[in-house]
Amino acid sequence: EKGNHRHFMAKEIHEQPEVVGRTLAHYVDLANGRVALPGDLPFDFGKLSRLSITACGTAYYAGLVAKYWFETLARLPVEIDVASEARYREPPLDRDGLTLVISQSGETADTLASLRYAKAQGQHTLAVVNVPTSTIAREASAVVPTLAGPEIGVASTKAFSCQLTVLLCLAIAAGRARGTLSAERERELVDALITVPGLMAEATKREGEIEILAREVSKARDVLYLGRGTSYPMALEGALKLKEISYIHAEGYAAGELKHGPIALIDESVPVIVIAPHDAIFEKTVSNMQEVAARGGRIILIGDAKGAAAAGLETLATVTMPDCDAVVAPIVYAVPIQLIAYHTAVFMGKDVDQPRNLAKSVTVE
Ligand code: M6R
Repeated sequence: EKGNHRHFMAKEIHEQPEVVGRTLAHYVDLANGRVALPGDLPFDFGKLSRLSITACGTAYYAGLVAKYWFETLARLPVEIDVASEARYREPPLDRDGLTLVISQSGETADTLASLRYAKAQGQHTLAVVNVPTSTIAREASAVVPTLAGPEIGVASTKAFSCQLTVLLCLAIAAGRARGTLSAERERELVDALITVPGLMAEATKREGEIEILAREVSKARDVLYLGRGTSYPMALEGALKLKEISYIHAEGYAAGELKHGPIALIDESVPVIVIAPHDAIFEKTVSNMQEVAARGGRIILIGDAKGAAAAGLETLATVTMPDCDAVVAPIVYAVPIQLIAYHTAVFMGKDVDQPRNLAKSVTVE
């Protein structure tokens, strides 16, 4: 079942161009250059005053990326929390408001409990799920499936990139409904979306160099991941992926938070992985890289050629990503982040598909 791959995780990373393409084909009307959600939703994005998102782990990080998309493309305020907090916090939720839950398995206990809480508050509930027969899919008032196919590796990879794909389509649909996206801008975004499978395939070609830099990462006791904007949740996701399969301590930070504490950790023994496509806030991230370099920190830059040239900094390694529209960058940048964690863990001889202490679906609180 693993085909030519040593692990399910490797197979699932490499499947992403295909499954993201399949997911896109389900949500995009190519002929008309617009997003077309299959089926009507039982609520109107145009009438919402707020969106509440809840999920766990990697699905939560997909939700954090989506917060930026819903806020910028649809001007829809988003509140997001991990499900284990949201359910006990008992947040006030407006009747007829919308709660969005995200789950690969559709069985995660805390996510299910927050879905039930939202329903009890009179909210509409929308679920982004990968398993269509799951409890969450059955209980939500509407379901938007990710078409990633079965995910076996405990570390979520292809489900995550498909979640991002569906969430971006939803944010675009919300922008249209709320009058914040012109037809022209929607077409541009759709054009960018359909380049994503090809760009992800391009990104997998960096695997040889990532395998080499993973040897450096494997020597570290601690690793920091930094990013701004949508690259901030990608930094959190990168750190989670690394810690869960390699057992190296890793933390993700908003790059601008560096000087508020984590900079104290920087020395030559701590690799700092910076996720920085050449976007509108790239220059701000460069300042943070300079702060790291000035303290002897070793930078691994995941960025594009333009950014690497503009930064002009000496790095331990630069993973050069293809140029892409900044809006879709998180989906494409998922690939090197996953490959770094994968190759580090494989190099260290860890069981990447079945990491210790973890279960694929967390059905207990
Ligand atoms: O099945 P779910 O998407 O609800 O699972 C949520 C988390 O348990 C899951 O994403 C977990 O964090 C992964 N092991 C991350 O790789």
